[in-house]
Amino acid sequence: ADYGGGPAMNHEHHAMSGMSVADLTGPKTGTPEVDVTLVARKQKFQLASGETIDGYTVNGTSPGPLIRARVGDLVQVTFVNESVKDGATLHWHGIDVPNAEDGVAGVTQDAVPMGGKHVYRFKAAQAGTYWYHSHQVSSDEVKGGLFGPIVIAPQSPGEVVAAIHTYDGKRTINGRTGTGQVELPAGTTARVRVINTDNAILRVGLIGTPYKVVAVDGRDVHGPTAVTAAFPLAAGARVDLEAVVPAGGMRLVAGTSALSLGIGPGDPPQGELPGETVDLLTYGTAAPVGFDPAKADRNFEYRIGRRPGFLDGMPGLWWTINGHKFPDVPMFMVAEGDVVRMKISNTSGQAHPMHLHGHHAVVLSRNGVAATGSPWWVDTLEVGNKETYEIAFVADNPGLWMDHCHNLPHASEGLMTHLMYE
Ligand code: C2O
Ligand code: CU
Repeated sequence: ADYGGGPAMNHEHHAMSGMSVADLTGPKTGTPEVDVTLVARKQKFQLASGETIDGYTVNGTSPGPLIRARVGDLVQVTFVNESVKDGATLHWHGIDVPNAEDGVAGVTQDAVPMGGKHVYRFKAAQAGTYWYHSHQVSSDEVKGGLFGPIVIAPQSPGEVVAAIHTYDGKRTINGRTGTGQVELPAGTTARVRVINTDNAILRVGLIGTPYKVVAVDGRDVHGPTAVTAAFPLAAGARVDLEAVVPAGGMRLVAGTSALSLGIGPGDPPQGELPGETVDLLTYGTAAPVGFDPAKADRNFEYRIGRRPGFLDGMPGLWWTINGHKFPDVPMFMVAEGDVVRMKISNTSGQAHPMHLHGHHAVVLSRNGVAATGSPWWVDTLEVGNKETYEIAFVADNPGLWMDHCHNLPHASEGLMTHLMYE
């Protein structure tokens, strides 16, 4: 199989023929419509529900503040690292920004040291639910709280943003353990934007009324139907759930009813998620994807496996891509404009939420069964053990892009590579 002809890459090396990451920036001039400063700190802080956590904050809280932009806005974020000793960055998870704005330490920029700052500028091109997080020692900094939500869409009266995160063994919605409440009048069309910032997949859904899955990973679902089911939300992924608030209210459930958010008037009833699962392979109705995946310029195989090796000097198991662990994995090389097809298979013994930076890919098939529902666009795709997915995308965003497992300790254990434009 052709899986990228480049030599093994040194993590520090990021020169491309004829261009460099540093040239691939957002607009350098122009007054931003959204202009925010985000300050990262290492500190003890209190969750919304009162527990004390020793971790990381953005502007004094975790999750950090919601950034809101509208399509077409120029977004400017001045990031200040006040006290994160390993350095920090901000990566705009799911937003296909120009490469130099992607916030990957060691690839698109150096980590911002304590006392330093970095300005990110990009156009908000595509409506949707996204999040930002540090991309330096991510398995520690994200887990500790250095993240927040970003929504590209005007605020609607029925909007609820729900970031699910586990701090120090305490699973929360918007930094609150247990059950919370959002007051919305009955009859409101609610759009619940759920973000899984954890390392593992989580079943989420609304109970109390049927709902529609209207967007996944910041891309609209075509022809969504009302379901009474749960949605399997991969680590790093987002889903937007829509429902009209019933008279008795409804409830967002994350895993079990022990972690939930009542939405509506009064105190919506408790309950567990149904056993059924929404499967995006067949959900919604087919629609054009804008390119022909059958005419691929590149066909890559991406085989996820595992082999013994040494981890921090101790014998252990490394995750591998095509038999190699990062940084010895050959990069996937593309040219601008290529239609790229990728067959991702996993025989590693565990599931992996695979995240490609800078691009959205459409799912073509799972385990040989073709997708028949709405175009299923992803930036983060859960690939279960013994599963095979075929995906396709257009290489339309030049640069050097990470492609890695969003169970973040797995990324530091080798499950990480790059997509590079030649
Ligand atoms: Cu959300 Cu490379 O990460
Ligand atoms: Cu993994």
